[in-house]
Amino acid sequence: MNAQALLTQLYDTPETDILEQINQLKAELGDQVLILGHHYQREEVFAFADVSGDSLKLSQQAAATSAPYIIFCGVHFMAETADILTSDEQSVILPDLAAGCSMADMADDEQVTRCWAELSDIINPDECVTPVTYINSTASLKSFCGEHGGIVCTSGNARKILEWSWGNREKILFFPDQYLGENTAVTMGVPDSDMIIWDPFQPLGGNTPEAIEKARLILWKGFCSVHQLFKPEHAETMRRNHAGIEILAHPECSRAVCEVADFIGSTEMIIKHVSAAPVGSKFAIATELNLVNRLRIQFPDKPIWFLSPMVCMCSTMFRTDPQHLCAALRSVRDALHGQQRISNQIKVPQQQKRWARLSLERMLNLG
Ligand code: 13P
Ligand code: SF4
Repeated sequence: MNAQALLTQLYDTPETDILEQINQLKAELGDQVLILGHHYQREEVFAFADVSGDSLKLSQQAAATSAPYIIFCGVHFMAETADILTSDEQSVILPDLAAGCSMADMADDEQVTRCWAELSDIINPDECVTPVTYINSTASLKSFCGEHGGIVCTSGNARKILEWSWGNREKILFFPDQYLGENTAVTMGVPDSDMIIWDPFQPLGGNTPEAIEKARLILWKGFCSVHQLFKPEHAETMRRNHAGIEILAHPECSRAVCEVADFIGSTEMIIKHVSAAPVGSKFAIATELNLVNRLRIQFPDKPIWFLSPMVCMCSTMFRTDPQHLCAALRSVRDALHGQQRISNQIKVPQQQKRWARLSLERMLNLG
């Protein structure tokens, strides 16, 4: 049966049967398969993850596992990263191939190569610019960074990566998320006069040659549409209504939100922060809804609010449902029985893998 026909059949099956099938397949496949689940996954899928985490933790897990099949319940760039970090004998599967990341799509190979060429007319970027890509990016941009002395960062290690990058070269080109770069630099005390924004749709990114020569941090004009829905006035309302509340924000939020937050961190750091707080602590959290709802259930003795009055949900993370997970597990079982080729495998081309791995290993080696 082809993948589409199988999914159609699974959507006609009661969900309780699907969950039962997933349990059985997991038991049958044992160590042959590792399910990685990002914190933004919906509950029905997240419950089956062997390991859950933020992008940093999940990439470390991918690099460490010897499981022959890795099912990545997350989005496309995460599965690509896992494929880069695993051996050629291991297979990485993304249950729904349409699970992308709109922020990762905001910088492509052609735009970044053009940016580098435009910078080359003014400065010598290979001597004075470290390209840093947020892990939320395509494999080809990770490869670009590897080839040009650059590195990958995540929301959990951005500060360390910026320090490393400035230790090597005087400037940083940071893509695709303006806000992770900007918020991290602000917490490091970098003045605004050292930063410029690069708009890929304008010549020289919309900057003068003088501004480029002067800048220490060139921030790509990209963003996460989910995290842009949080506003500083939401924090004001929370503080007015709940004395003593702490505002926790993911660094993909705008600078205005991060400047009024009490704590800024990756999804894993937010979870650890809530977990370590004394009973009775109150939080308003600016990150994806599925994670905030899970924290509410996990910590009933610590009142938790979603910072925005609107629903801020990552629709592509939400694409992975139990039906897709079940289909992925069935595909692994059938492949092990030699019955068919594995479906939805993510395979990064070899010529990109070499440099992309280097940029990821530079990051992982920093700890
Ligand atoms: P974390 O690495 O903090 O989990 O973030 C990943 C992501 O895509 C947030 O939008
Ligand atoms: Fe991408 Fe934003 Fe979704 Fe994270 S929350 S995967 S950055 S679109």
